[in-house]
Amino acid sequence: MDRVFEKVEDYRQWRSGIDGTRSIGLVPTMGGLHEGHFALIRRSLAENDVTAVTIFLNRVQFNDQRDFDTYPANFEQDFAALEEMGVDAVFAPSFEEMYPDGYRFKLSEGELSRILEGEHRPGHFDGVLTIVLKLFNIAQADRAYFGEKDWQQLQLVKEMTEAFFLSTEVVACPTAREESGLAMSSRNRRLSEEGLRKAALFHQLLNTNRTPEEICSELEQAGFEVEYVADRQGRRLGAVALEGVRLIDNVELSLCRVD
Ligand code: PAF
Repeated sequence: MDRVFEKVEDYRQWRSGIDGTRSIGLVPTMGGLHEGHFALIRRSLAENDVTAVTIFLNRVQFNDQRDFDTYPANFEQDFAALEEMGVDAVFAPSFEEMYPDGYRFKLSEGELSRILEGEHRPGHFDGVLTIVLKLFNIAQADRAYFGEKDWQQLQLVKEMTEAFFLSTEVVACPTAREESGLAMSSRNRRLSEEGLRKAALFHQLLNTNRTPEEICSELEQAGFEVEYVADRQGRRLGAVALEGVRLIDNVELSLCRVD
């Protein structure tokens, strides 16, 4: 693939050469690609004539400097995988390219972004919504693919596209999981082998008919630091830390196992 763009202008030039009858799918990522991203990309490749992937480690959405510093980025490896999959273009800009204003301008939502993830990660969703709006404006895609693992992010991005009359359709894709049930995440690479085994308990417990309080206490007994487990609008969402690695997940309440 010879289409790797670091400049907005170069991406736009490539985009303007695509015939209006051809559909474009966009998969926004922060790199550290894994099977979860590959599932989104495969879906975009299947549903669109052209697929563009963005790789941008958006530091303004990290409220924890250590989490940002240790985020497992590997551009060479990501790029090789994208090339093999047949992705048409990669947009991988610098911070300065994406934030010529130094992040003076940001997009903020006042309700859903303030609870759960938003409560525990102040400023996180301002950073996410701001970068997604910028990427949508630049990419001019027909569809954009997001995983259900980041449930709150997915809802906010969907609602943002409605609020700002954006024409990109947000496509929700099921969470990719390890055999153990653990939701795939770039951060899983920072877990030890034992941590990986133990982390599966997080999903297993979310997926039971126990109360959020019971699940919190079982997770704590098992050595997790629990940020929250909460039921909201037919879903159970949770965030925990294990070995200093933050994990999030969510399940549909009606599908929880009765035990
Ligand atoms: O889900 C992610 O990887 C990021 O939040 C996103 C959507 C690429 C924005 O930086």
